[in-house]
Amino acid sequence: MNQQKLLIALNWKSNPATHAEARRLAEDIAGIDAGQNLLVVIPPFPYLAAVRDSLKEKGSSALLGAQDIMPFSADFDRKGSVVLTGEVSADMLRDAGVSHVIIGHSERRWILGESDALINEKLRAAVKTGIEPILCVGEREKTDVPRAVQESVDQLSLAIEGSVSAQYIVAYEPVWAIGGNKTVDPAYASEVIAGIQKYLSTTGSPFPIPVLYGGSVNCENIVSLIQFKNISGFLIGSASLSAKNISCIISKLGT
Ligand code: PGA
Repeated sequence: MNQQKLLIALNWKSNPATHAEARRLAEDIAGIDAGQNLLVVIPPFPYLAAVRDSLKEKGSSALLGAQDIMPFSADFDRKGSVVLTGEVSADMLRDAGVSHVIIGHSERRWILGESDALINEKLRAAVKTGIEPILCVGEREKTDVPRAVQESVDQLSLAIEGSVSAQYIVAYEPVWAIGGNKTVDPAYASEVIAGIQKYLSTTGSPFPIPVLYGGSVNCENIVSLIQFKNISGFLIGSASLSAKNISCIISKLGT
């Protein structure tokens, strides 16, 4: 049994299709006993309030996360009215009860073309508002450990520039392993994470920075992943849309 407290972040991405389904899924997740592990449910923006209320009504200790945040800080907003059409500000997220936010997810980097500079702004905005960033990094193509570490560290160092002393979380997600059904070598993931941790130890961060693994985590491969004690938790996409899968994953973690 694994006695380490793990952070399990559930990235629903653009799912489910309806408010009613989101509520149902949140209620089912609220019924899962995560033991000493910390669950963070990360629904799309339109469902934030419903998920928050469902978790609360069921007495769940799970936290609420957002999938993105408006770049620029609250100071920018307060210069006048909030002027960034389509964006959701850090203040709004905090007011909605959000404690964590995903920043720099590969789908935003590589499908929507988010730059390192934009990711850096988003991280600053989250930190300034007291929302803990879950910063995603990872190599785009399958490669070897040193190259994967280099690519991840390059993304990481640019993202945290100006925020090195903040508390944040890193999610190492090899882009090629995302999708729910890809095969990942847990030893490879752990070695890349060790490389990222080595870099983190040089940044002068006053906090221990947890590093999560993400990419096709499921109820089968979780067993071998948790053997690597340098992994602080998991960012789960596909498997997070089923309470049964989440429950199965949690049951493998121990309490
Ligand atoms: P996946 O997604 O679990 O479906 O691979 C993980 C992620 O993209 O965060």
